[in-house]
Amino acid sequence: SKRVGILTAGGDSPGLNAAIRGVGKSAQGHYGMQMIGFQGGFRGLMENRSTRLDGNILSGILTRGGTILGTSRDKPHRMLVDGIMQDMTETIVKNYHKNQLDVLICLGGGGTQKNALHLKQQGLNIITLPKTIDNDVARTDTTFGFDTALGIATEAIDRLHSTAHSHHRIIVVEIMGHRAGWLALGAGIAGGADVILLPEIPYDIDHVAEAIRQRVKHGKPFSIVAVAEGARSLEQAALIQAAEARRLNAIDKKEQKKAKKQLKSLEAHHSGIHTVQLSEQLELLTGLESRVTILGHVQRGGAPSAADRLLATRLGSACADLIAAETYGVMVASEGEHAVAVPLEEVAGRKKLVPLDHPWIISAKRVGTSLGD
Ligand code: F6P
Repeated sequence: SKRVGILTAGGDSPGLNAAIRGVGKSAQGHYGMQMIGFQGGFRGLMENRSTRLDGNILSGILTRGGTILGTSRDKPHRMLVDGIMQDMTETIVKNYHKNQLDVLICLGGGGTQKNALHLKQQGLNIITLPKTIDNDVARTDTTFGFDTALGIATEAIDRLHSTAHSHHRIIVVEIMGHRAGWLALGAGIAGGADVILLPEIPYDIDHVAEAIRQRVKHGKPFSIVAVAEGARSLEQAALIQAAEARRLNAIDKKEQKKAKKQLKSLEAHHSGIHTVQLSEQLELLTGLESRVTILGHVQRGGAPSAADRLLATRLGSACADLIAAETYGVMVASEGEHAVAVPLEEVAGRKKLVPLDHPWIISAKRVGTSLGD
């Protein structure tokens, strides 16, 4: 029978256990395959730390947050080993064969799709599943984890509304999403935020302040500003663009390194610094008091929503069907009600940002939400 390796990589996300269970129960129970779980992402495969996923291990995990396998952001080709950053691809390939795997299932977001393609190019049989609260993986309608995070962020906005209202304050709430605005836009619309700022639309601070002043004028002296962690002002966007140009035109390695460092600090997104600055600017420009709430990793924790359990189970069982058919080198994507196999080459390295003409953007504008443009 087939030997199936499985690992979870990158940031954790609600629905990972549901997906492990979906793949595992279908592969073992339905197809009689053997499941081997590697611990702590690609590092677990590199260090050959594994567990047989048999017996009752896959029972009772459907509703649990996190991942029973553990995860890490380690990449096969860039791993800190003995204090030195090393390319561990060879060891990983060796361990794949040592475990006599027929296929390796990698559950992860954008970074994992790239790493999976890298391993495919080394001749390994790979299948991936798209998980991330950011919803930014190409070629799939959605990723598991997104719906749960959307619910958490929406509830947070609901709760911030009543306190902002009572105190006549601005509350700036920072929402995750990496460089994409899906989570902030979705939760902002569902939670009725007054302003939503996205990485895809650099904002003009004067326009944001004006939207808040207009609300005051209309008897609403409080505002909720939902800001994606990757959102940028027009000025910041211009600086990033200039640093990017400097990096591309750098004449030597030293200059390139300098530009890269600058770019990294400008793009620093999960520090909350931009959000605090934005709040201070809005206080000055509107005369209202402003507070900051950074939702952070709360958005990734806890039990998955029903929609995420369903999606993860659907994609997981479809993954077992693909293993049985020996369809490798693909991501199991969601397309409407169906699961489809998309070649990793069409997914890796392609971030799915919110298109500017997306229906959510149009609806947000129609109901009078300022997007800061
Ligand atoms: O990709 C998921 C995500 O939560 C992003 O929204 C966020 O930018 C990042 O991970 C945070 O990473 P870490 O868990 O390493 O702090």
